[in-house]
Amino acid sequence: MRIAVLVSGSGTNLQAILDAVRVGTLEAEVAVVVSNKAGAPALERAHAAGVTTLVIEHRAYASREAYDLAMVEALRAHGVDVVVLAGFMRIVTPVLLEAFPNRVVNIHPSLLPAFPGMNAQRQAFKAGVAVTGCTVHLVDGGMDTGPIVAQAAVVVRAEDDEASLHARILVEEHRLLPRALQWFARGLVSVVIDGDSPRVVVAGPARGYVAATGEI
Ligand code: GRF
Repeated sequence: MRIAVLVSGSGTNLQAILDAVRVGTLEAEVAVVVSNKAGAPALERAHAAGVTTLVIEHRAYASREAYDLAMVEALRAHGVDVVVLAGFMRIVTPVLLEAFPNRVVNIHPSLLPAFPGMNAQRQAFKAGVAVTGCTVHLVDGGMDTGPIVAQAAVVVRAEDDEASLHARILVEEHRLLPRALQWFARGLVSVVIDGDSPRVVVAGPARGYVAATGEI
């Protein structure tokens, strides 16, 4: 399985993918890392791992669709099977989604459908929830709305602040994302249509876990 990882920032999830590929727990190759920002630290991580990088800056394109068309061309040129949005701060359009049907994956720092969009950790903290977490899902046309592939729950501790909660969720993102991608590599992920809404079915493995063992 040839993966493209799309990034905009620090790239710690990219690093988790690269590490899992290196040790063999993710049977895939990172074919290319694409950033919409030239200075993204994630690019350094890719370089360090010897992975091809591309910068496709959104400012150079007149529309989201034109941007995604350039992205699709680049991904096709690298023989990509699965596209991973790992901190990619762009809304993608049907141009990308239709080129890789049910093969565009996102990681989001909440238990979706709760707290979609920006600052999910802050939203959770402010809402006073006792449990939050992270979600790997297929991307559809909405904001963090696609079919859920896997989730990990993280307990909100009394002593937490937004930063500590953010950090503990990130640790679980780094476990969950490579694990879920391995299910794709093994051909375990399929999408069933349930009424009029699609739902992911993973053959075999459990799709969720609770990270913290503290009382809730
Ligand atoms: C992660 O929290 C991810 O869930 C969200 O953006 C952040 C990216 O972090 N979509 P990183 O660039 O992987 O460190």
